[in-house]
Amino acid sequence: MSGELSPIDKAKFVAAKQATEFVESGMKVGLGTGSTAEWLVQCLGEMVREEGLKIKGVPTSKRTALLAKKVGIDIMTLDEAKWLDLTFDGADEFDENLNLIKGGGGAHLHEKIVATASDRVLVIADASKKVDTLGAFPLPVEVVPFGLSVTQGLIAETLTGMDVLGRDVVLRMKGDQPFVTEEGNFILDLHLKRIGNPRQLSFVINQIPGVVENGLFIDICDVVIVGHGDGRVTTR
Ligand code: 5RP
Repeated sequence: MSGELSPIDKAKFVAAKQATEFVESGMKVGLGTGSTAEWLVQCLGEMVREEGLKIKGVPTSKRTALLAKKVGIDIMTLDEAKWLDLTFDGADEFDENLNLIKGGGGAHLHEKIVATASDRVLVIADASKKVDTLGAFPLPVEVVPFGLSVTQGLIAETLTGMDVLGRDVVLRMKGDQPFVTEEGNFILDLHLKRIGNPRQLSFVINQIPGVVENGLFIDICDVVIVGHGDGRVTTR
């Protein structure tokens, strides 16, 4: 499966491969979204097909659901599963406290619900995702379409009192239309450059009417498995 990979894909693959060591037959497993999570789904599929691994997967997006089915993983909804043993996901950034920015793929709402309903959350990432301070990657915030410009304005106003460096609040687009999430909502990307107090920011943003969920994952991740382009894997 690893064939001739670019250093970045190799890093994602080796991290995903290492992460599979945490899986045992009989587990209910949350399946994240994104290119790194897809490596993990591929590796799990191989174990199901070739080693008889028996798991039930709960996908966090249609894209992941399609891939899981294709590679042979039985899937179920979170409501059917009720609780999960383990969730695997990628991240856009992680810091030394294992706090994350997620939502680059627009799936952070489902991802946060699934992660919160899991005994353990393992993030797999290439080494470029490690940062000293979160915020270089724009923070995704899912908002309802009703009153979009009012919500956008309230978020911008709220940011003036926060420990951040940038304050641009940008509607995510897909072509010439707003990007629409699987829940039918929009995403505002907050270009903050540096987030001094992620816990406070997450709490304050989620108080604004119209906000559904932000992409800061605070105290949710238990382990980050980091893949490097030379094939090394480190764990944090
Ligand atoms: C999707 C996510 C992804 O985990 C995040 O964007 C990382 O993606 P990739 O592994 O492709 O870099 O949060 O909502």
